[in-house]
Amino acid sequence: MKINHSLKAFNSFGIDASCKDFVKFYEESELRSWLVANKHLLHDIFIIGGGSNLLLIGDIPKVFLQADFQSVDYYEDGDDVLVKAGAGVNWHQLVMETLEQGYYGLENLSLIPGNVGAAPIQNIGAYGVELKDIFVELEAIELATGDKITFGLQECDFAYRYSIFKGPFKGQYMITSVTLKLSKQPNLMLDYGPIRKELSHLSDEEITAKDVSNAIIKIRSSKLPDPNELGNAGSFFKNPIVSAEDYQALKETFPELVAFEIGDGRYKVAAGWMIDQAGLKGYRLGDAGVHKKQALVLVNYGDATGDDILNLARYVAKTVFEKFGVMIEPEVWIIGDSKW
Ligand code: EPU
Repeated sequence: MKINHSLKAFNSFGIDASCKDFVKFYEESELRSWLVANKHLLHDIFIIGGGSNLLLIGDIPKVFLQADFQSVDYYEDGDDVLVKAGAGVNWHQLVMETLEQGYYGLENLSLIPGNVGAAPIQNIGAYGVELKDIFVELEAIELATGDKITFGLQECDFAYRYSIFKGPFKGQYMITSVTLKLSKQPNLMLDYGPIRKELSHLSDEEITAKDVSNAIIKIRSSKLPDPNELGNAGSFFKNPIVSAEDYQALKETFPELVAFEIGDGRYKVAAGWMIDQAGLKGYRLGDAGVHKKQALVLVNYGDATGDDILNLARYVAKTVFEKFGVMIEPEVWIIGDSKW
């Protein structure tokens, strides 16, 4: 199998891997025609979005398909605004565009890397808001048939950093557009982490969506590395969810434990805090490292391979398990020969 297309520029970790072929589509009709003409490649396809949540292990003997659909359409209905965006639209650009128009809803999701089409796959979230909170529907092409299918909120089965496209439907659809519900009326979520502190010079009535967005951009930029400067894929691990019983036991041993009740009696524990407490913040193994400012993020200092990052990740998970008895798992999508 010939592997000749570099993926280095297509993954935010900056891993130097290749794929069999890379095809970009600007129109849905092109994608459909390609699928018909290349039925024999059905099991060799990998759909790539912005490449900001991927860890490539070695060369990948697959044909990478990318949707570069750039349309953005607005439908106003009273105070509600539906925005339907093409899969290839840069997420942060969409957030900025909606804020410029005075629409509320996406401000807490500012500066998340990646494209619109990838946003539902892991139900992106930050600062107390997840994609599912504003999601209406998405359209996707089923790779096996070329059929266009609409998925509503329930059908996507969203959960923390999860959707059906990461579970039973993994690799079976190319998302072509996503429709979100925004509002002309303020409905701000300010009670998460340091947002209020960042906006303490304003009263609640004065705060606009743009203010929240600016605060979040400031907070994120101070902790999260810019992939253009230092390869990374955002949080490498998910925050593990533990039972109330396990939480109590942990809290007794580690009174400083950072954890949040998630509504069903269970707790989400801050994996970054545990990695930090395990002494691994800034830890480096060759060119793979734990970020100095946010321990949940693994970084590529230059020439790390996917295996280098994976070895570091395993070491981090093992060390956290030995100290806290809690298993942490990757949030990034690992593709290639090695499994977690
Ligand atoms: N913490 C430490 N040391 C660290 C990192 C974190 O002590 O090195 C503590 C913080 O002080 C804080 C707690 O851990 O008390 C949580 O940290 P933070 O608010 O930075 O958030 P996170 O749990 O590390 C999650 C998301 C981020 C999202 C932020 C804000 C996941 C896997 N990650 O990170 O999402 O931006 O909350 O909402 O849920 C991403 O998915 O790529 C991502 C960046």
